Amino acid sequence: MKTKKMNRLLFIFLALAMTTVLSFSVWASDPQQGSSIMDPKEKAANVVAGEFLKELGAALTAEMKKGGPTEAITMCTGLAPKIANRLSRGNGWRVTRVGTRVRNPLLGMPDAWEQEVLKQFSTRAKDGERFTEMTYSEVVSEPGGQYFRFMKPIGIQPKCLLCHGTPQQIPEAIQDMLNKHYPHDAATGYKVGDLRGAVSIKYPIDGQGQ
Ligand code: HEC
Repeated sequence: MKTKKMNRLLFIFLALAMTTVLSFSVWASDPQQGSSIMDPKEKAANVVAGEFLKELGAALTAEMKKGGPTEAITMCTGLAPKIANRLSRGNGWRVTRVGTRVRNPLLGMPDAWEQEVLKQFSTRAKDGERFTEMTYSEVVSEPGGQYFRFMKPIGIQPKCLLCHGTPQQIPEAIQDMLNKHYPHDAATGYKVGDLRGAVSIKYPIDGQGQ
């Protein structure tokens, strides 16, 4: 009788312990690794990054319809930073676009943290994750203070090849403009599905972050 009771107690204890361990590991699991739990800061950044990509995509399509790809280049040069600035909303957010290979070194060059995250995105893509579902965020300490940092990958679509594809895919008029405006252009030779870069968001979290 006594051993039966002990066994039952032991069973209950083990079951409780298992539940605790399981819920702890769910809680502790990295939200990037497939779980749908997203931190509110990451969620907010993801909305802004999504808006940025949607607006850029729509503007690109509209410009290419209206004036052809050479007009779209002018749009790309002026509009992307304009949209980025508007989304930065003057509240300390910095919204930018960075590239795995860069066309405009002044605006598109990833810093060390961004380079690491781009590498991580490539690895995750090789492991079968889709760019559209990937994000990464982290609170980083820098000499200037603590920052919330977020990135969302940008993949190459067919419509990008006109300006980021192989020399055979880039029309001469576009190549001429690229040579003129971007003498150090490295952002060509991409294929559909390649990682082109990422939207990158950064803001200080001491007091004014959202
Ligand atoms: C009509 C030409 C054109 C097309 C089409 C185009 N781009 Fe670009 N892209 C540019 C130019 C020009 C720049 C440099 C903009 C600047 O000066 O900041 C650029 C810059 C970028 C950058 C910033 C990093 C860097 O290299 O400076 C990313 C990321 C990017 N493009 C992604 C894309 C994606 C993704 C597509 C397709 C959805 C696309 N582009 C389609 C012309 C184009």
